[in-house]
Amino acid sequence: MVRLAPSILSADFAALGAEIDRVAPEADWLHVDVMDGHFVPNLTIGPPVVAAIRRHSDLFLDCHLMMTDPGDYLEAFADAGADSCSVHVEVGGTSGLLRAMRDLGLGVGLALNPETPFEAVEPWLASLDVLLVMTVHPGFGGQRFIDGVLPKIEAARRAVDRSGLDVVIEVDGGVDTTTAARVVAAGARTLVAGSAIFGADDPAAAAAEIRRAATEVAA
Ligand code: DX5
Ligand code: ZN
Repeated sequence: MVRLAPSILSADFAALGAEIDRVAPEADWLHVDVMDGHFVPNLTIGPPVVAAIRRHSDLFLDCHLMMTDPGDYLEAFADAGADSCSVHVEVGGTSGLLRAMRDLGLGVGLALNPETPFEAVEPWLASLDVLLVMTVHPGFGGQRFIDGVLPKIEAARRAVDRSGLDVVIEVDGGVDTTTAARVVAAGARTLVAGSAIFGADDPAAAAAEIRRAATEVAA
């Protein structure tokens, strides 16, 4: 089974509710990219928008916190109705952040940038619900998939299987019908896709195509 998480980063923010409705039939999760203009050179959305989406949709809200100080906002995201948050290992303070997410009842995710080795997240693997592996440099949608990350996905898959853990390996960045098959072959089963879905005339059809390409490999 492949899980698809459309990223609203590439949606029309002026029509967010309608955009979510268009993709909802093919969305398992909704991926919400939060950027603070500091950890990444871009600004996007925060807890008030998550709260508005929560009022509009029952979809699982998978919030990717590209923030230097995510700890200052975890409670606000939980109150807004986020289901899961992923913080970046590069910002440090990981043990405390993961504990805070768990205490708030959030799904616990840890993200890592393309250059960050798998060993940097390994100590926390058993504490995670989600390992979010970036296959582009975070900050913008529509970038090219970085092939060099594939061995890291394979290493994560091996480590998760070896330890019998139930950690979701989620891949984010440059996922389309071609690269989806490759990340699934490497061992991921949860795929984020932004521009390949919301850049299409029919986002649900584009999502279905990605799912089809990925499921062929997963089967
Ligand atoms: C990038 C974000 C991604 C982004 C993916 O910083 O974390 O979630 O929306 O967009 P695409 O699928 O266009 O690479
Ligand atoms: Zn993301």
